[in-house]
Parts: sequence; structure tokens; C-alpha cells
Amino acid sequence: MDLRQTSGIGSNAPPCGTFLDLIDASQVDNLEAFILEVGRIWIFSKAVMLDGDLAHDENHLARVAVNAAILANAEGAAIDVVIPAALLHDLVNVPKNSPNRERASKLSARVAKEWMHAEGFDENRVEAVAHCIEAHSMSAQIAPQTLEAKVVQDADRLDALGSHGIRRAIQVGDQIGRSFFRSPGIAYSNGESTIEHLKRRTPLVVNGLQTATGKAMAVQASAQVYKFIEQIEHAFGLLH
Ligand SMILES: [Fe+2]
Ligand SMILES: [Fe+2]
Repeated sequence: MDLRQTSGIGSNAPPCGTFLDLIDASQVDNLEAFILEVGRIWIFSKAVMLDGDLAHDENHLARVAVNAAILANAEGAAIDVVIPAALLHDLVNVPKNSPNRERASKLSARVAKEWMHAEGFDENRVEAVAHCIEAHSMSAQIAPQTLEAKVVQDADRLDALGSHGIRRAIQVGDQIGRSFFRSPGIAYSNGESTIEHLKRRTPLVVNGLQTATGKAMAVQASAQVYKFIEQIEHAFGLLH
């Protein structure tokens, strides 16, 4: 069975959207119904997230859903909570440099809750998904209370590492006017550079991971980021 076709995602499927292939019938009450539901969530999420942020586009959602499925399978988390939460976690986007940034995950949870209620989702699942969404963000500083929330938080953070994490940091940096790189000792007016941001944030992301599987997945992905920083510093003549 072509799961993506069945789900209604069809030809709009993201290139890395194989998260449905990571789910089997033993994990949900009714696999076919779950796949149709995922299709509805995907279409809603894509429609709401149309704001041109390349680092938080549908491919980010698909990668977070892949990570969430891998983590849920390894950690024993409820797939029918983590997948909806992964696909709905960034509904409301507040720019990284906005003072309202910490409200984004709460606003996303509110929009997701309203939609899930309207769609007739079971109340317990609505609350479980909403908590995952609220707690996913670093800036919101809401501790994840459930295994599912820990999984979704790790799934999102893993996308800040590896080659996608590097690319997304550059895209966000360009979008908010960060310098890509700056030489030490020279005063700049626009805050930290993208390379400084990666250097400061990567250990925070790694140290904040909640699950053993997430920590294991981060080893190679964070090494890629540090290697990239080293190569850039080398290219700018800081390392020999
Ligand atoms: Fe987010
Ligand atoms: Fe995200």
C-alpha cells in the first residue's frame, strides 16, 4: 500500500516525508484511519504555515515527523500523539529576533487545539498533543511532562543539528540580517554572527536533549556542525 497516496498527501508529499512508512498497525487502533487523519493534519498545517520562512517550512515538519517516529519507536511513545504534534508544532511562527518569540509555541498549541476540537479529536489526545507543542520550544521554557513531549522536543531539536541544521541557521541568519561570520575583535552592530550562533547554540541543543535515543542521534549530527564551524574558521584564516 502506498501510505502517502492513501493519506491524501499524494503528490504533495515532501521529498523526505517517509514518516508514514515508519508506523505500523500495532502502534495505532486503526492504521488506515490514522493515515487519513495524518493527511488532514498535513494539509491544515501547510495551509496555516504559508509565511515564507524557509527554515520552518513543510520539509522541516516532515523531518521532525521522521525524527519523532524514530524516537517514538525506540522510546515507546504514543505515535498517535507525537506525529500530530510534530506536524502541528510550528503553526504560528514568530521571528527568532522578536521579543514575542517565547509565545510562538503557546500560540501554535492554541491554534492546534481549536482545529483538533473542530475536527472531533478525542479530548485526551488534544491535551496530549497541545502539551507537546507548547513544550517543544527552547524559548518557551516549558518543561516537557510526558514522554511524548520529550520525543517531540528532541525531534525538533535534532533538526537544528546536522546539515539541515547548518542550512537552517544560515537561512534564519540571512532572514534577520545576521552577519555570516565576523573576525574577533572587530565591533559589529547586528549582534552575533551565524557562526557564533551555531557555536553557542549547538551545545545547548545537545545538552538539552531529553531521550537516550535523541542523545545518540545527536552525536554525529553535532559533530557535523562543529566540523562546519571549523572549516569556516579555517577558510577565514583563524585556524591553520
Ligand atoms: Fe518551533
Ligand atoms: Fe520546529
